[in-house]
Amino acid sequence: MKKNKAIVIPHSNGNIPGSKSKYLLELQNKYETRTIFYTDTLPIAIDSSQGSIITDVDGNKFIDWMAGISVLNIGFDQEIRNAIEKQLAKTWHALEIPTEARINFLKSLSNSFPSDMKDYRTMFGISGSDAVETAVNISHAVGNPRSTTIAFEGAYHGVSGGIISATAGSKYRRTVYSPGFEMIRVPFPYSLWYDTDVSDIISELRKILLDHESGYNRPDSLLVEPIQGEGGYIVPPKGFLKALREFCDEFELSMIVDEVQSGMGRTGKMWAFEHENITPDIVCISKSVGGGIPLSAIYYRDDYDEKLPKPFHMGTYRANPLAMAAGAYVINKIPSLLERVKRDGEIMKKQFESINSENILEVRGKGFMIGVEMGKDHKPMSQEKMMKLKLKMLRSGLIMHTCGHFGNVFRYMGALNIPEELNEQGMRIFSEVVKGEVK
Ligand SMILES: Cc1ncc(COP(=O)(O)O)c(C=O)c1O
Repeated sequence: MKKNKAIVIPHSNGNIPGSKSKYLLELQNKYETRTIFYTDTLPIAIDSSQGSIITDVDGNKFIDWMAGISVLNIGFDQEIRNAIEKQLAKTWHALEIPTEARINFLKSLSNSFPSDMKDYRTMFGISGSDAVETAVNISHAVGNPRSTTIAFEGAYHGVSGGIISATAGSKYRRTVYSPGFEMIRVPFPYSLWYDTDVSDIISELRKILLDHESGYNRPDSLLVEPIQGEGGYIVPPKGFLKALREFCDEFELSMIVDEVQSGMGRTGKMWAFEHENITPDIVCISKSVGGGIPLSAIYYRDDYDEKLPKPFHMGTYRANPLAMAAGAYVINKIPSLLERVKRDGEIMKKQFESINSENILEVRGKGFMIGVEMGKDHKPMSQEKMMKLKLKMLRSGLIMHTCGHFGNVFRYMGALNIPEELNEQGMRIFSEVVKGEVK
């Protein structure tokens, strides 16, 4: 890849938080809820962001290996800003009424899917949670309204739902099943800690469907992340999604694939389910699809759409024109980055693996979705140690986030267009911190 000479090499003076950051953090703490927790391990106040570099109000510059938790798959890109500004000059709110930006977005999203999914429909939402909740609602609307969904251990699909119970209008309430969502929880293949393999999981699922004494209501849908995100960047074995697809076909369940974190090029394919050549019935999309402006979408079968009553999903902010403009730019940009993500993702995985540290249990991932699970003697690293390492990385100029069942997985999720120099420098910082060379 061509080297970008204009890169400002990040630097931090190690004094984090600096005095200006401290001041703003204190004010935030005074006015905003005490429940904010990102600032426990990222104690800075942001001044500006450009590409994959974040500058705090004290002038420290950080390499961004977090990308807003995959909200910024092409970083703080000048072209996204141009697209937003161009749209801003026209209008920035349009309810469900068409704008050129909206039509351009819809066409771009449809073009980003494999050919057998081109006639699917799009429904908009605001957040990832909103999209997944609506996807499950759709599956119940076309399935059995009193039904149940299968979800996995370690899954993260969001945190919204419930307030519909307080809304009075029956026309809104009749299509929203969320307060009563019933989930059947089954294991996700996570070979580092558990020995459930794909055939065990499928046997368990078949038992639930076939045995009337299983204790569950009959499910009408199955919800899965192609690679678990918050659960720990867990890559299931090849064949897992295919086996789930076959299971869903056999028992006529809607297969809902949650691509909120794994989609939009993150794994080296536009959609992570494409690694297994399957066709989901419903896809949940958010994060980078709005280029940093809140947006989500549910992309689902046309024959499902025919069965939905009108109105189905409500919300005054859905498909904001700024998000339409930014999102269309991002969707159309990603295909040109996929080869790079595949190639450099493999290189980075090897680099993580080659770090000589007894504290690394496993490195796994696809593309730029790489997890480094920390621990020793087959025990997860403690939260306290993880936090210390994260703070040391920050003090050295690297922003990196964690996830996992035990909160012990460092996750690499740099922007897909992050300059190579920043990956090299980030890797050096990560390695030095993990090896204990940074005090
Ligand atoms: C796979 C997955 N689904 C859903 C969500 C929820 O998205 P949001 O935080 O936008 O509600 C997330 C968020 O990280 C996610 O990773």
